[in-house]
Amino acid sequence: MARKDFLDIVSLDREEIIQLLDQAEPFKDLFTRSVKKVPALKGKAVLMLFYEPSTRTLSSFEVAAKRLSADVTTFDVPSSSVTKGESVRDTIDTLQAMRADYIVVRHGLSGQPAAIARQTGASVINAGDGAHAHPTQALLDAFTLREKFPEMEGKRVLITGDILHSRVARSTSTILRKLGVKVAFLGPGSLVPKTASPDIPRFTNYDQAISEFGPDAVYLLRIQKERMAAPFFPSDREYHNLYGITDERLRQLAGEGTYIMHPGPINRGVELCDAVLDYDRCLISQQVENGIAARMSVLYGLKPQTS
Ligand code: NCD
Repeated sequence: MARKDFLDIVSLDREEIIQLLDQAEPFKDLFTRSVKKVPALKGKAVLMLFYEPSTRTLSSFEVAAKRLSADVTTFDVPSSSVTKGESVRDTIDTLQAMRADYIVVRHGLSGQPAAIARQTGASVINAGDGAHAHPTQALLDAFTLREKFPEMEGKRVLITGDILHSRVARSTSTILRKLGVKVAFLGPGSLVPKTASPDIPRFTNYDQAISEFGPDAVYLLRIQKERMAAPFFPSDREYHNLYGITDERLRQLAGEGTYIMHPGPINRGVELCDAVLDYDRCLISQQVENGIAARMSVLYGLKPQTS
């Protein structure tokens, strides 16, 4: 892969995706060794630039970069000059002087990572921009599903919840479909966009989605209240009753051997009940672990134009 930047899934072809997934495997094998590092990015500088709060994605990128032996700096956005009114453009000009080879960006505005990528020779990785894209999440999701279903073609994933505001829904559905997986959306009518591709079935009733679509995995999304100006449904309790994985639904899914996935952070009692986290086909912690390997693969595969 001779790309400078990693900004979305739409612009990747199937071969590039498979190459990134294959390349992540030896990185994952490394995690069970006593020495978990390889020298691939030794001497390279990786800068984390997160304009939105994040715990798992930021630390996952930090661990990934460190396991590749890069020097990692996390630019503390909330306490930086940004809060004093500095524009992203001026921040990047300042950061250029630090000679980063890779900049990992999360921003509330769709398209901001792409704008930064045009401004710098450093490789820019999109760690989530607005409701647009979250391509490394998509890659780790595809990797996690492929571990369970090495032939992904024809498998079925039901993405459930706040599709409308979710960059994860957009990127993960795109990668899965490029790999031949069938995707359907389920959620309240107000949160499942009507403009979604006509070949993605759209359900608003849980039982109907399960019986008609017959998913191999249910992928739960958090309700992104921070992206809603007004509530899109009456209450968390009602959402849980209509769409959440309750104890009873968990028993049904267990009977079918259905996997459960979630990008985190989870809201217990809303999209899932506590028992989901002890379910043997719940893949949430595998997703977190695989996130490091997938991000190592992305960092390793990019070609910064910095020297
Ligand atoms: C997601 C995100 O930030 O888009 N989380 C993540 O990256 N782990 C999903 C979410 O915030 O609900």
